[in-house]
Amino acid sequence: MSSGVIAIDGPAGTGKSSVSKLLAHKISAHYLDTGAMYRAAALAVLRAGVDPAEADAVAAVVASADIRLVPGANGSSRVYLDGEDVSGMIRTDEVTDAVSPVSAVPAVRAKLVALQRRQAEAELLVVEGRDIGTVVFPDALIKIFLTASPEARAERRHRQNLAAGRPSDNAEVLAAVNRRDHLDSTRAVSPLRPADDAITVDTSDMTLDQVLDHLADLVRTRIGVAS
Ligand code: DC
Repeated sequence: MSSGVIAIDGPAGTGKSSVSKLLAHKISAHYLDTGAMYRAAALAVLRAGVDPAEADAVAAVVASADIRLVPGANGSSRVYLDGEDVSGMIRTDEVTDAVSPVSAVPAVRAKLVALQRRQAEAELLVVEGRDIGTVVFPDALIKIFLTASPEARAERRHRQNLAAGRPSDNAEVLAAVNRRDHLDSTRAVSPLRPADDAITVDTSDMTLDQVLDHLADLVRTRIGVAS
């Protein structure tokens, strides 16, 4: 299989990023982290000194921002803003707080969705996001929606923060995860929800390896990609 999309959607903290990268590697596909594009847009807004809640001003900043995602082999992926590699800078709390309002602006979504679709024209891609199966690639080869309990998701984020040397408070992380999910699932444009034909996988009680094996099995069964 030389082109096509494996869509992986779901809220923060389900193991989505880790498992998407590993799955891409396992099936020799490239990996597209669409959240990184929304984060780069949020960084552009912050750098411009614009309030993320000001939709018109946000749309203007993002319209003139050059956002590029360069998928690499082995599940690696870098994001560039106006030619600068901002892959590390987009993971700060400041960007994380700004990204939900920025990603709710219709003009922002229209621009980034067009970029995502162009990228998928000639490759086999594992595409990770919130609206990949519902909006961006409704004809995806397979659609997977990862879920997990809020507590399990917050705990994972908390541990990731600590492992990365970032200060972290479990209760605060849980509140932030819930806040962001609420914004993402209640926004007017492309709210977070499983596609009607998505396969939902609850990862609360699964290890990363178990999720990866399960997804690889699904992909093998449904679309015949060797792994
Ligand atoms: O997966 P992440 O945490 O890096 O995503 C960052 C934000 O971008 C998240 O709040 C939801 C938004 N997002 C989106 O609206 N649509 C996507 N396809 C991917 C992410």
